[in-house]
Amino acid sequence: MQSRLLALFACAIPLSQAAETVLGVYLFSRHGDRTAKSTPPANLTDLGYQEVFTSGTYYRDRYVSSSASSKIAGLNTDIVKLSQIAASAPLDNVLMSSAQGFLQGLYPPVGSTLGQETLRNDTVVHAPLDGYQLIPIQTVTSGTGSEDSAWLQGAGNCANAIVSSNNYYSSPEYKSMYDSTLDFYQSLVPVTNATFNSSQANFKNAYTIFDLLNVASIHNSSIPSSDLLTNSTLDQLRTLADNHEYNLGYNSSDSIRAIAGSTLAAQVVQALNTTITSAGKTAKFSIQFGAYASFQSFFGLANLTQVKPDFFGVPDYTSSMAFELFTTAAPTPFPAPEDLQIRFLFHNGTTSNSSTPTAYPLFCGNSLAMSWTDFTNGMNKFAIGSQTGWCKACGNSTGVCASADTSPSSGAKMGSSGGSSGPSKAVCGVIGALVTLVVILSIEALLWLFVVRPKRRRTNTSSEASVARENEGKLKVDGA
Ligand SMILES: *[C@@H]1O[C@H](CO)[C@@H](O)[C@H](O)[C@H]1NC(C)=O
Ligand SMILES: *[C@@H]1O[C@H](CO)[C@@H](O)[C@H](O)[C@H]1NC(C)=O
Ligand SMILES: *[C@@H]1O[C@H](CO)[C@@H](O)[C@H](O)[C@H]1NC(C)=O
Ligand SMILES: *[C@@H]1O[C@H](CO)[C@@H](O)[C@H](O)[C@H]1NC(C)=O
Ligand SMILES: *[C@@H]1O[C@H](CO)[C@@H](O)[C@H](O)[C@H]1NC(C)=O
Ligand SMILES: *[C@@H]1O[C@H](CO)[C@@H](O)[C@H](O)[C@H]1NC(C)=O
Ligand SMILES: *[C@@H]1O[C@H](CO)[C@@H](O)[C@H](O)[C@H]1NC(C)=O
Ligand SMILES: *[C@@H]1O[C@H](CO)[C@@H](O)[C@H](O)[C@H]1NC(C)=O
Ligand SMILES: *[C@@H]1O[C@H](CO)[C@@H](O)[C@H](O)[C@H]1NC(C)=O
Ligand SMILES: *[C@@H]1O[C@H](CO)[C@@H](O)[C@H](O)[C@H]1NC(C)=O
Ligand SMILES: *[C@@H]1O[C@H](CO)[C@@H](O)[C@H](O)[C@H]1NC(C)=O
Ligand SMILES: *[C@@H]1O[C@H](CO)[C@@H](O)[C@H](O)[C@H]1NC(C)=O
Repeated sequence: MQSRLLALFACAIPLSQAAETVLGVYLFSRHGDRTAKSTPPANLTDLGYQEVFTSGTYYRDRYVSSSASSKIAGLNTDIVKLSQIAASAPLDNVLMSSAQGFLQGLYPPVGSTLGQETLRNDTVVHAPLDGYQLIPIQTVTSGTGSEDSAWLQGAGNCANAIVSSNNYYSSPEYKSMYDSTLDFYQSLVPVTNATFNSSQANFKNAYTIFDLLNVASIHNSSIPSSDLLTNSTLDQLRTLADNHEYNLGYNSSDSIRAIAGSTLAAQVVQALNTTITSAGKTAKFSIQFGAYASFQSFFGLANLTQVKPDFFGVPDYTSSMAFELFTTAAPTPFPAPEDLQIRFLFHNGTTSNSSTPTAYPLFCGNSLAMSWTDFTNGMNKFAIGSQTGWCKACGNSTGVCASADTSPSSGAKMGSSGGSSGPSKAVCGVIGALVTLVVILSIEALLWLFVVRPKRRRTNTSSEASVARENEGKLKVDGA
């Protein structure tokens, strides 16, 4: 087991040392700090604006500026070239504004020297706001108004996904959580009663209650009965909300529930494939803002939860994940597909020079970079990119799906065995179990040291313990 883990690190080291060139990036980000969902319409706060701007500035320093650490080959450094950038967000106060704030950091105002033009009659014209640059943001339909609705399943209009997520509320997992946490939620009624009365203070509203109190803990200096709202109570509310939202967004035996992650996976592959097929001429840098449901569905589908239990949790505000397309071969002419690799990075919360993204292995692989072919094979195991595929997987047959061919031979890749070059189950299980074991051991050590916070312990370890059980099963099967 240890040698496997050593191999994991050994694989990673040469990659980071080889000279490499980044050719394209797909970035998916959550919005910045916002007002509570329970007081719609939610909006981006000044703090949130600052967060997305900081994150945009970080990614500028990483991919865009002339001194960038992982400069995207051929990307304009100061004056944006629109064909190189593809930004998108749902039509939503919080997400659309976040995308704008991020882009201001990515391509800041260029000043009066660069931001000027000379007309035919020799008049010099300056762009407003010290050379502010306008970057259009495409609207994506999924997630419209999502920050205003408590129900944040990333693909609210996929019929089968709606049914699947609703099934969660009648699952034994949900019922047992509901029962075991009812007293806890009821104890907080004096804090929540302006918004959630005693019949609403329960696990069913796990996310919106957490959201209300999390927002209040950041912004509201006059929380009623605030002595009840200790840090460990807020932690426990967060852990319960994590569990609730993860289960709404992903179920390993019911893959349609993760439709948000499936459509995102297809968008990533298609965008990077456009970078490749255009030999780096278009879509060098795609940026999408979206809701946490897409992150969680994707984390489940890409087996990231087996790499690190944190992936079971809701990513914090302004979290981002990046897919870097790079080569260690000569970058010009544009490398052949077999010379292309992909690295996946994630950062929980606002990225900045002092808090940077980390690379993780996708699909439980054993290295922090994979070939483009392995990447597309892995993603295509669960990606849903075509209208036909979507209609078929979702079981929709009206509206945009009325004319779609939903015969069994067409479209949806859901559940197909796909490529065979993915990592073996054994590797997945072993790494997952090791990481889980280390985490559980350290949690137990902590608990042993600090016997306080018993409530947090109960809910927190239950989800991690279930991962451990799953992985223990695999270890036995594999005879490791
Ligand atoms: C943002 O939301 C808060 C709380 O709901 C509200 O007080 C404020 O007026 C809103 N701001 C804008 C710009 O809409
Ligand atoms: C130059 O052309 C611009 C745009 O047509 C016009 O607004 C401006 O008044 C002209 N300047 C002179 C000096 O003619
Ligand atoms: C799919 O079906 C669901 C349930 O019937 C419906 O609410 C949704 O609007 C449909 N989506 C599309 C895109 O037609
Ligand atoms: C996941 O799906 C399976 C099969 O449909 C179901 O038995 C189980 O209760 C579901 N779990 C959750 C947490 O929704
Ligand atoms: C909420 O509970 C507090 C403390 O029990 C009480 O003082 C307050 O009146 C309640 N507010 C509402 C809206 O019921
Ligand atoms: C709680 O609020 C809901 C919605 O406002 C209302 O229907 C319900 O009767 C209230 N329950 C109690 C116990 O006040
Ligand atoms: C702070 O909380 C109090 C009590 O719940 C509420 O009346 C007030 O509107 C909140 N203030 C803000 C800025 O949300
Ligand atoms: C609660 O958490 C905040 C923010 O992390 C920290 O500043 C504060 O000291 C903590 N309070 C206690 C009592 O631990
Ligand atoms: C990339 O696009 C080309 C041309 O549209 C297509 O033939 C190929 O299958 C795509 N590759 C992937 C991995 O999607
Ligand atoms: C992000 O951090 C929060 C705590 O701030 C944690 O609960 C969650 O699991 C983390 N999520 C990921 C995906 O790392
Ligand atoms: C972040 O680091 C880059 C590269 O080291 C540097 O150019 C930039 O000024 C730094 N930005 C901030 C905000 O410190
Ligand atoms: C995730 O891991 C499971 C085994 O634990 C494996 O069957 C599945 O193919 C993996 N998914 C991907 C996308 O590699």
